[in-house]
Amino acid sequence: MTFPAPESPQDRPLRRDGGREHPGRVVTAQLAETARTRGILEGDGGDLRRRRVVTPAPVGSGRMKLHILAVSDEVDQRIYSPSIKDRMGDVDLVVGCGDLPATYLEFLSDALMRPVYYVLGNHAEELTRAGERGTPRHPEGAIDLGGKVVRDPASGLIMAGLPGSIRYSDTEPVQYTEWQMQLLILRMAPRLLWNRLRHGRALDILVTHAPPRYVNDREDFAHRGFVAMRRFLRWFRPPYQVHGHIHLYDRSKPNTCRFIDTDVINVFPYQRLELEFEALGTTASSTGDTTPRDRTAPEVEHQR
Ligand SMILES: [Fe+2]
Repeated sequence: MTFPAPESPQDRPLRRDGGREHPGRVVTAQLAETARTRGILEGDGGDLRRRRVVTPAPVGSGRMKLHILAVSDEVDQRIYSPSIKDRMGDVDLVVGCGDLPATYLEFLSDALMRPVYYVLGNHAEELTRAGERGTPRHPEGAIDLGGKVVRDPASGLIMAGLPGSIRYSDTEPVQYTEWQMQLLILRMAPRLLWNRLRHGRALDILVTHAPPRYVNDREDFAHRGFVAMRRFLRWFRPPYQVHGHIHLYDRSKPNTCRFIDTDVINVFPYQRLELEFEALGTTASSTGDTTPRDRTAPEVEHQR
């Protein structure tokens, strides 16, 4: 069975009210059929969005290891495929770094049955929000990290998210001046400082669309990074930052830069990452609690 390529909104049939059909349900139904024929799924697909419980692998000295699939900016046919289960079935969670169709993130959520966390890119109206102009729609079953500090309940991984890009035009919906980005960071600061007191570190991974200034960024105005993000990394010292926005087609160029204590990783169009972090003592394995936890209810520690 072949899987349909993502379609443009203009290709979808018009509804009676003038809107266009959303392909997410079609994708889910076809995925369910594919999964049944491949023996991945039993039943009628009604439980397709159920997440499996993840217990990260201990790697000694109180540290854990997580496998993360990070995606950004372009739909990659190696990922948007029924073979995703075979190629990426062992990832623990998915991170979206912006400028992606909602249906792509929903597909990954359904296919891998893993939690999906994301931030919006600057082209959110056309892409992440599914192209239904005037009808913002975020991906179903995924968690928006924008302006939030979130702890994944099963793994204990602490994430923070900063959406959008530097302000460069009046036509794109998610853009920030340096001051606006700094304000977003300051609003998150109390929870990050509390995490440092409570857990010994502010966060494990910063998820953004744009990079920090002079780190993986470019000199044209639309692709400059944020000085405010450099301050974030200096203040809160996460071991990892993942971002998109910079389309790096030349594979001979490095996609990772070290800035102070942080590996800043450009994930375009996707990267499979193996991250180590400190265990919080809240995972099923570390507490001895073997009760499956609800993967759809992360602890949101700060919200705009
Ligand atoms: Fe972008």
